[in-house]
Amino acid sequence: MATYALVLFTFLAVVSSQAFASDPSPLQDFCVADMKSEVFVNGLVCKNPKDVKAEDFFFPGLNKAGDTSKNPGSNVTLVNAQKLAGLNTLGISLARIDFSPNGGLNPPHIHPRATEVLTVMEGTLYVGFVTSAPEFKLFSKVLYKGDVFVFPQGLIHFQFNIGAVPAVAFAGLSSQNPGLVTVANAIFGSNPPISDDVLTKAFELDKKTVDWLQAQFANSI
Ligand SMILES: *[C@@H]1O[C@H](CO)[C@@H](O)[C@H](O)[C@H]1NC(C)=O
Repeated sequence: MATYALVLFTFLAVVSSQAFASDPSPLQDFCVADMKSEVFVNGLVCKNPKDVKAEDFFFPGLNKAGDTSKNPGSNVTLVNAQKLAGLNTLGISLARIDFSPNGGLNPPHIHPRATEVLTVMEGTLYVGFVTSAPEFKLFSKVLYKGDVFVFPQGLIHFQFNIGAVPAVAFAGLSSQNPGLVTVANAIFGSNPPISDDVLTKAFELDKKTVDWLQAQFANSI
């Protein structure tokens, strides 16, 4: 019995360490990314610490709103390790998200490598996330200025401006490179496209509707 429990525990430990991948801990004070390096490692290559300057830990301009005029009416300004070299190996990033009035949407998406904690600076957002199978339970809430909500790693989530004024939120993410899978774009806008036979069956849609959806999301980012 004890042997069985040990085997089960070992199995769970192995499985869960893979299922909950997160950024590794740093092995030095900092590892400012050398954006010019052509070496591929897990993260970005460090530049020589002697060449590191205050500017390497700095990113300006998050006071400026992103342009939300394009569908679906939101704009994410993400400050990850690619944009702020000093974030390399530190396991966090930051985003400003702007929403157009009356329906600006940050559509359902996943960050494969990060939990997100979001706070509303201006406006009113209806936000939520859905748990994994078999429950697929939606946790949602209307957020006002100053409210904070957390979206657990790897789950589908969204934010929607239900107010009549522009909304602004800031989000912290638990990875230097959270990654983004926008659900509709990944499914209907993949390159090359997923076969109609798969999509008609998966979504119980006719071919015409699948083709229409693919046309909406083709070449989208
Ligand atoms: C987000 O806003 C910036 C700054 O206004 C703009 O350059 C960029 O094209 C916008 N992105 C989208 C997807 O609209």
